Amino acid sequence: MLLGLSGLSELSGRQYHCTNKHSFDLAKEGYVNLLPVQQKNSKDPGDNKLMIQARRAFLESAAYQPLSDAVNGLLADTAAKTLLDLGCGEGYYSGRLQQALSKAAPAHKDLQLYGIDISKIAIKYAAKHYPTMQFAVASAYQLPFASNYFDGAIRIYAPSDNAELQRVIKPQGRLVSVSPGPNHLIEMKQAVYREVKPHSAVIKDEPGFNHITRQQLRYTLAINEPQQLDNLLQMVPLAWKFNAENRQHFVSTTQQISIDFLLDVYQRQ
Ligand SMILES: C[S@@+](CC[C@H](N)C(=O)[O-])C[C@H]1O[C@@H](n2cnc3c(N)ncnc32)[C@H](O)[C@@H]1O
Repeated sequence: MLLGLSGLSELSGRQYHCTNKHSFDLAKEGYVNLLPVQQKNSKDPGDNKLMIQARRAFLESAAYQPLSDAVNGLLADTAAKTLLDLGCGEGYYSGRLQQALSKAAPAHKDLQLYGIDISKIAIKYAAKHYPTMQFAVASAYQLPFASNYFDGAIRIYAPSDNAELQRVIKPQGRLVSVSPGPNHLIEMKQAVYREVKPHSAVIKDEPGFNHITRQQLRYTLAINEPQQLDNLLQMVPLAWKFNAENRQHFVSTTQQISIDFLLDVYQRQ
């Protein structure tokens, strides 16, 4: 059952109807595909299977677990009942968030966690692995949820539309946003650029929200095996800058890499 999806009514346990009488099937993994053809700018938008598999393998190595723990910490004190993971990928962060919050306090017992992503393959994976969460293939630019539905949202390296965030997050609701800090993966940049420009640390303005706090999370990740670095490379747009030769060299010689995340908390006005 997918509560909170705007304009959709449940026709049967496995089918939904929208107000225009289009029907959407509940996939066997338990997600709905709400991406209309006209919102697709390619046959399979979003991250593809290879990227998803590489990201999953990398995340399972616990390399970004400190980030996941820090995100969970920023939501631990809320009594949120409805949370959204925007561009959730295969659900690593929201899966761990649900686990952490449900252990933390009985207040989170009835928590409903939703994830949306434009990538069908990512959502398929997420729905299969996190059966107690609700997932939909949908665009962050046209969220399929009723207005003021969410007590909070997380946005980890994912696109969003400010008007949609303002619409779906309740007044006083929280948005936790993660973006790269100045030195994030700097060694990768050094391998492909002559002159390396750090990521900007400017706090993004989110109209309709007040910026509450910023936390910077920095650590050095020791690379266990070349495959781990290869997986990381698959996840980042910078991978396109490598040719086969410098990729091979980078993967076989790099032993540690700088991790630098910026975690910003905003509150809906
Ligand atoms: C860099 S990945 C981050 C995934 C996840 N949040 C994580 O950190 O593991 C960005 C995600 O945004 C998704 N995405 C890209 N454009 C999107 C859009 N317009 N609406 C929803 N998701 C989108 C991609 O499919 C991908 O899963």
